[in-house]
Amino acid sequence: MIRRLRSSGVLSADWLPAFESVDRAWFLPDLMWPYDMESRTSRPVDRGLDPGAWYSCADADMPITVQWDDGDHRGSAPGRVATSSVSMPGVVASMLAHLDVRPGHRVLEIGTGTGWNAGLLTHRLGDGQVVTVEVDQAVADAARARLHGHGLHPAVITADGLLGHAPRAPFDRIIATAGLRRIPFAWVEQTVPGGLIVAPWGTVFGNTDHIVRLTVSGDGRTASGHLSTPVEFMKVRSQRHSVDQTAYLPDGFPGGATTGSTTLTAAALGVGDRMHHPFATAAGLLITDCALMADRRGSSVSTWLYSLNGDLSWAAAVLTDNTAESTVYQSGPRRLWDELASAHRWWAGNGRPGPGRFGLTVTADGETIWLDTPGNPLPRTVGSQIPWPDLTNRGHPVANWPQS
Ligand SMILES: C[S@@+](CC[C@H](N)C(=O)[O-])C[C@H]1O[C@@H](n2cnc3c(N)ncnc32)[C@H](O)[C@@H]1O
Repeated sequence: MIRRLRSSGVLSADWLPAFESVDRAWFLPDLMWPYDMESRTSRPVDRGLDPGAWYSCADADMPITVQWDDGDHRGSAPGRVATSSVSMPGVVASMLAHLDVRPGHRVLEIGTGTGWNAGLLTHRLGDGQVVTVEVDQAVADAARARLHGHGLHPAVITADGLLGHAPRAPFDRIIATAGLRRIPFAWVEQTVPGGLIVAPWGTVFGNTDHIVRLTVSGDGRTASGHLSTPVEFMKVRSQRHSVDQTAYLPDGFPGGATTGSTTLTAAALGVGDRMHHPFATAAGLLITDCALMADRRGSSVSTWLYSLNGDLSWAAAVLTDNTAESTVYQSGPRRLWDELASAHRWWAGNGRPGPGRFGLTVTADGETIWLDTPGNPLPRTVGSQIPWPDLTNRGHPVANWPQS
């Protein structure tokens, strides 16, 4: 794995000793569920039954789930929602490179998981320099035991990492290894001026996050930076969301929806494909509090939009890659298809920007999204300061997504 990471350029020489010394396999339980990115499925691998398969997965550039359903899961079949994992080594190396640590730095990690990433940081910086926060007591206890067994002693705290860790602040660096839909201002307050916050951040539009690297301003009151590589991480517990379609369509499809038409195709919107399409990033940034779900069957892509601000608006269309016109159904106070079409016009009119042209600024008042420079905020469709809807326990998760 280390050879592959080195030859792809993602693992830099300064991180090599840590990767060589802190073995990922050490941090993994006997029963684990590697996630295959191609088939988008998890399967159990038991060290006792097949040690060869177990070691080859531990050494592969793939995410591995180690906990399902917040621990409320028994047996070897995959559970409903993957809730703790060890991330892909390539993503881990890339985020650590973004973190740009120096000797003497104090680092806070949010999302201890197996403890591997905390172990890499501790090997590099020293025991007293690293604090890692994990929301799940059992996950934190297992990570602490494995870290100690490896001779590494970062502070492993069981708490909600969205609060940061004030008792040991300030930190030079904060790194989150769970996906964020909002970056808490507490992290800005707990980072030194000029310090960095590196996190997978995204919108509720889809499951994709982007690595963001925010620099804290000289007065410590804002943190700002560009989006970069698209990735997919499991989300922090309180920022997961799910969509229960029956709440939107209590009387079945199409309910009281009005109909119209669209000339947008599946290919133009990039829906129904596995590759991340740059319009998806832009649409998520422009259309707030809206989830998209798309399901390809042959050449047709059922495309649904659901408002997540509690008004139960939805829109749907069956698109193909090249049909000139498709019927659109819209229901509720928000005209979500019109918002999508308007976002597409904005995106096309602004040179079809990819993720790297967008940026994020976090202040005490919330988040601002911008194009190219902080002075150029996006025309977002709905105020982003509305309360976060508590949909965690309603219905099923959007999908059994890959977990970083
Ligand atoms: C992808 S895993 C982290 C991988 C880990 N860094 C490693 O090296 O194995 C994400 C972890 O974040 C934890 N988590 C979720 N929400 C959290 C929160 N609010 N505060 C702290 N940890 C949280 C999950 O329980 C899970 O263990």
